[in-house]
Amino acid sequence: MARFPASWLDELRSRADIVQVVGQYVSLKRNGHRHWGLCPFHGEKTASFSVDQDRQMYYCFGCKAGGSVIQFIMDIERLEFQEAVKHLADQLHMPLPQLEEDPDYQRRRTQRDRLLEANKEAARFFHQTLFTPAGQASLDYLKKRGLTDSVIRKFGLGAAPAGWDTLTRHLTGKGYTIEELKLAGLTVIKEAEPATVDPATGESKPERPRRAYDMFRNRAIFPIIDQYGNVLAFGGRALGDAMPKYLNTSDTPVFNKRLGVYAANLLKKERNLKRVILVEGYMDVVSLTQFGVTGVCATLGTALTPEQAKLLKRFAPMVYLSYDGDNAGQNAIMKGLGVLEEAGVPARVLQFPDKLDPDEFIRRDGIEGFERLPALTPESYRMGRLRTQYDLSTQEGRTDYAKACAAILQKLEPVERENHLQELVVQTGFSRDVLLAQMGVSAPAIGKPAAPDSPVKRQQRFSPNRNSPAAVQEEPDEELLISIFGTGRVPTDIATEDDFRDPLLRNLYLSLSEGASAASLCEEQVEESTRARVSKLLLTPPADDTDQLIRMAQDCLDRNRLKRSREELSALEASLPTLNGADKIAALQRAQQLMAQISKYNAHRS
Ligand code: UTP
Ligand code: MN
Repeated sequence: MARFPASWLDELRSRADIVQVVGQYVSLKRNGHRHWGLCPFHGEKTASFSVDQDRQMYYCFGCKAGGSVIQFIMDIERLEFQEAVKHLADQLHMPLPQLEEDPDYQRRRTQRDRLLEANKEAARFFHQTLFTPAGQASLDYLKKRGLTDSVIRKFGLGAAPAGWDTLTRHLTGKGYTIEELKLAGLTVIKEAEPATVDPATGESKPERPRRAYDMFRNRAIFPIIDQYGNVLAFGGRALGDAMPKYLNTSDTPVFNKRLGVYAANLLKKERNLKRVILVEGYMDVVSLTQFGVTGVCATLGTALTPEQAKLLKRFAPMVYLSYDGDNAGQNAIMKGLGVLEEAGVPARVLQFPDKLDPDEFIRRDGIEGFERLPALTPESYRMGRLRTQYDLSTQEGRTDYAKACAAILQKLEPVERENHLQELVVQTGFSRDVLLAQMGVSAPAIGKPAAPDSPVKRQQRFSPNRNSPAAVQEEPDEELLISIFGTGRVPTDIATEDDFRDPLLRNLYLSLSEGASAASLCEEQVEESTRARVSKLLLTPPADDTDQLIRMAQDCLDRNRLKRSREELSALEASLPTLNGADKIAALQRAQQLMAQISKYNAHRS
């Protein structure tokens, strides 16, 4: 392979109008000398992606992706440089030039190709061995770990036989030199030793010839394959307690463990991934995938690097850090969040209980358990970590905790801060104004939730005489529920009377649960306007299909209960500054309960 001539590349860049090229993927609006649009590399609702026509560069202020038109094609089409150049040249109807030879490049390229071929041959050998007697121990091990044949094939897992140099002999038989195998990290060389005599003891050691033996022996093999299908390296799992537990290829001319991730080949195949799940271990990737989780990958036995963060951004707009539930894993999450933030990659955290790793967790709680785990924002996660470090039952602990959290929330945009502020108010008992002051920001008018209803206002709303359209609008979910129950096709006992706040709707619900017919309930209404409302509710079924009705009812109930919990939480929050002693503790406990309910309903609904 050779290079495109620099002058030709310049011409390509100048002929390709970046605004027009990007415009094929993103709808752009001109503003000043830049064009703006929604970033295609991370999910966003307001345009922070800009294209500069003069400089022929693009840049996203949100995720910090940026570069030339060629870079854009590489990122959006997930192509390597030369492929991206060909893609562009094709669009511009520019004939490809005579490639220039670069003798050194050529040499490196040839070596690289040889090592990659050797690795691919090794992967094939390991995988085939798995299903022969020499691989039986490894196969038994993988089966004992619960892996199915299909996932074993999907990841190309293999077996390194127990002999000293089975693979080395296989590969030299295919024409690879020992030097090449050593460079690829497949073979280890023990240099020749001359014969020696120990002068003290007179003990003599015979001469030993240079010996070449396999790097991986008697281990289950996880090939590390990049997004282009190249086999870069291997991880070998001991079958028992042998040390180290995992033996990995060290860095080679084709492998740098700081640059890639395990299972990039599978990530590349997933289209429209919403998030990448990053775990610590090979087994975690394989196991989650077997249970049906998509988009899982792992760093290769190192802490997350900025290069890996940028790579992940090419596969999905968000990364879920899903490290082991033990202390080491949790510390690595704190570091990883910093790296992702620095690289402009939006992140969430999945936290596994009981110090479990993802593999142990999904085997225990199944895919349902996995999907129920809340995806914590970095701030929630950091606040959660802090919460374990302070004693929130003392005023002093709450104060220190509030200060530490304020420092975290300070950096957020007002709307994002708002989500966590409420949590902090109930946890610490400080008013929102005090907390905002601690963050050095004044209370923004838009950030404030509506003040909780005064008793008078609530009274008014509950008055059955009030039938203005506004009042009808206020509890749309309750109304929809009544319409659903009015069909007589959905059992009323999935709700309770507490789900209805509007007294008229509550009465209708009670009558319907006692078996009253929709028609009789309409007739019962004395007042003209009420009768009209009730008829409309009870005689217009919102759907025909019973399953659909049940789903709608469940949805209404969740939404309504979520709203109630939020309202109660707001009211508690407002009352906290006025409470002391046992009352305050009780209020804080209730608030915790409500927050747990809220995240449960939220999880249900997402
Ligand atoms: P863990 O020790 O958490 O392994 O190491 P695990 O994934 O739970 O493995 P099993 O379930 O016991 O088989 C996580 C990752 O750290 C690297 C490997 O990449 C491993 O997948 N590691 C661990 C090593 O490179 N060498 C080791 O000796 C141990
Ligand atoms: Mn494990």
